Amino acid sequence: MFENLTAQPADKILQLMQMFREDPRDNKIDLGVGVYKNADGQTPVMRAVKTAERKLWELEDTKSYTGLTGDTGFHDAMRALILGDAVGAENVAAAATPGGTGAIRQGLELIKMANPEATVWLSAPTWPNHPSIVKYLGIPMAEYRYFDAETRAVDWDGMVADLEAAKAGDVVLLHGCCHNPTGANLNEAQWQAVAELLLRKGLIPFVDIAYQGFGDGLDADAYGVRHLASTQPEMLVAASCSKNFGVYRERAGLLMAVAQDSKKTPLDQATLAFLNRQNFSFPPDHGTRLVTLVLNDAELRADWQSELEDVRLGMLGLRQSLASALQARTGSDRFGFLADHRGMFSRLGATPEQVLRMREDHGIYMVGDSRMNIAGLNEASIPILADAIVAVDV
Ligand code: LMR
Repeated sequence: MFENLTAQPADKILQLMQMFREDPRDNKIDLGVGVYKNADGQTPVMRAVKTAERKLWELEDTKSYTGLTGDTGFHDAMRALILGDAVGAENVAAAATPGGTGAIRQGLELIKMANPEATVWLSAPTWPNHPSIVKYLGIPMAEYRYFDAETRAVDWDGMVADLEAAKAGDVVLLHGCCHNPTGANLNEAQWQAVAELLLRKGLIPFVDIAYQGFGDGLDADAYGVRHLASTQPEMLVAASCSKNFGVYRERAGLLMAVAQDSKKTPLDQATLAFLNRQNFSFPPDHGTRLVTLVLNDAELRADWQSELEDVRLGMLGLRQSLASALQARTGSDRFGFLADHRGMFSRLGATPEQVLRMREDHGIYMVGDSRMNIAGLNEASIPILADAIVAVDV
């Protein structure tokens, strides 16, 4: 049997992570995988999460199974964090999943089960694991234009034109905020226009929100997902706690099925439980308990929000510094988009050859499409990156 296996395409982000680890150079710079790093290059456990871990150690008196969809306290706390009061609790079915990727996978499984004819529309570009999972599940897939390679902003006209070609019942995967890999995001007016388009054409949004709090703030980053929740008859939301709570390896994620008709919620909930059972039975619990403790304790929550805000402002500062360093070196504003982008990533717009030269000649690791993890920078590495960008002639 095993002789029939064929090599699968390597994940470009994880492959780069490995290459970075194996590079012996001391002065190498990692702008690859989307993991937050502070100025010392560390990914610390957040203060409130550390305190919650101590509390949980004291409080937890069993490791017996939870429900198939995880702890309802986690659902409630996350629903409020993401959706605010855009919809009522009775409109939302929810399931904890192994990270945001697990939520994407379970959401796609639900789509396949509910409507095998539905095409899933992905932004071009998008997080490479999106098309990989869609393809693996054999779900029809299409792309809508999203990024203008010239301006490095959203290709709004292209996006609208492409989505106009979708058929009723199709699903549109949208990044809730901090678009991965580009860093270019919809503004509020564009979210409203997208909502109108989806409603008019009978398309169903599937929002992937993995970086809430990394862009313009916790509430501002949820504008789009909340607006859709309050205007669309149905939607799916996949959320990750990996980044904003820094619990990457705990695999804490949430899938929500939102329906304006609350009579649909019990069946949605039962379906999410069934899908969890088929794929892994019970979702990981530890990370979700930590997140719930943090969100439900006023003091811990305030501390978490303040640390998250420092992280966000730190990345904004790095964006400004890099844009200024490039402005000073090139005498032009053509890299100003770096300060306009939001979240952990920006797509620089370098060619694959330029990306390769930056890696080989300068020890700077970015994903092949020139996605940079801004959090991988610090004030010392910004001039080095700016020099390299100029040297390879981006
Ligand atoms: C990324 O885009 O780098 C992160 O979401 C990590 C991953 O799993 O790819």
